[in-house]
Amino acid sequence: MVGAKPIWSDLSFEIGPGEFAAVLGPNGAGKSTLLKAILGLLPLASGTLKVLGTSPAEARPRIGYLPQRRHFQADLRVRGIDIVGLGLDGDRWGLPLPRLIRPSAQRQRAAVIDEMIDLVGATAFARRPIGELSGGEQQRLLIAQALVRRPQMLMLDEPLDSLDLPNQAAVAALIADVSHQTTITVVMVAHDVNPILAYLDRVVYLAGGAGLAGPPSEVITAETLTRLYGTPIEVLHSARGPVVVVGQPDLTGVHGHQHGGHRHP
Ligand SMILES: Nc1ncnc2c1ncn2[C@@H]1O[C@H](COP(=O)(O)OP(=O)(O)OP(=O)(O)O)[C@@H](O)[C@H]1O
Ligand SMILES: [Mg+2]
Repeated sequence: MVGAKPIWSDLSFEIGPGEFAAVLGPNGAGKSTLLKAILGLLPLASGTLKVLGTSPAEARPRIGYLPQRRHFQADLRVRGIDIVGLGLDGDRWGLPLPRLIRPSAQRQRAAVIDEMIDLVGATAFARRPIGELSGGEQQRLLIAQALVRRPQMLMLDEPLDSLDLPNQAAVAALIADVSHQTTITVVMVAHDVNPILAYLDRVVYLAGGAGLAGPPSEVITAETLTRLYGTPIEVLHSARGPVVVVGQPDLTGVHGHQHGGHRHP
């Protein structure tokens, strides 16, 4: 419930440790609300939610979170590397207070920031002002910020939003790498499943006040999606895996793209 309005009911799902899970559904379906509930920022009207073996509020310090729609002013002079560092300071929204920290702790801090910047492939531009960077470059640095405390779980709200297709594919592959090469559980909100479809272990689909969860092979089917959305949806199978098409299977449509990624073992 948000205010007096129920967002969804009858939703039951489980995401295993180390899995890459997507929360999918149309605008207003309650995807961001679900992430906020998992973070303990919004209470459930009814039902239970167990996160990392405990309550959402207790689990929150062990979760890295990237909220939806972040835009930096073009004239913001703060460097990318400082934005990543804010993830360690516990205050993502203000600038870190100058404080005295031991040189050894300072070196450790710089090392972990560099490591995360390297992990997301942002080394080349991390020392430039964030406001000057492209959306895809900013997104990599924000993912590094969410990872810098070494969380057990990473929650990303539409991290592919406003990226062009090559950058969507690259950031999707990066997030899949984080999920499959570490033990971090990744929960990612998306409204287009196609860029991440090949990587997913689990899908939570929200639509029309209802929800459905399971492995992609069970949830991403024409029958299931058509029922959930109430509009014809096709799932085509190409040599590189399934592609979801909204409406008639007219491949000139906006959803007919496919990425060049591969499934990780
Ligand atoms: N603070 C709030 N007060 C009242 N209603 C809200 C509030 N936040 C969200 N809602 C409503 O709850 C519903 C779900 O919102 P939510 O932001 O979770 O959707 P979403 O699936 O993330 O959508 P989008 O794809 O547009 O980001 C919407 O109808 C929205 O208007
Ligand atoms: Mg949202």
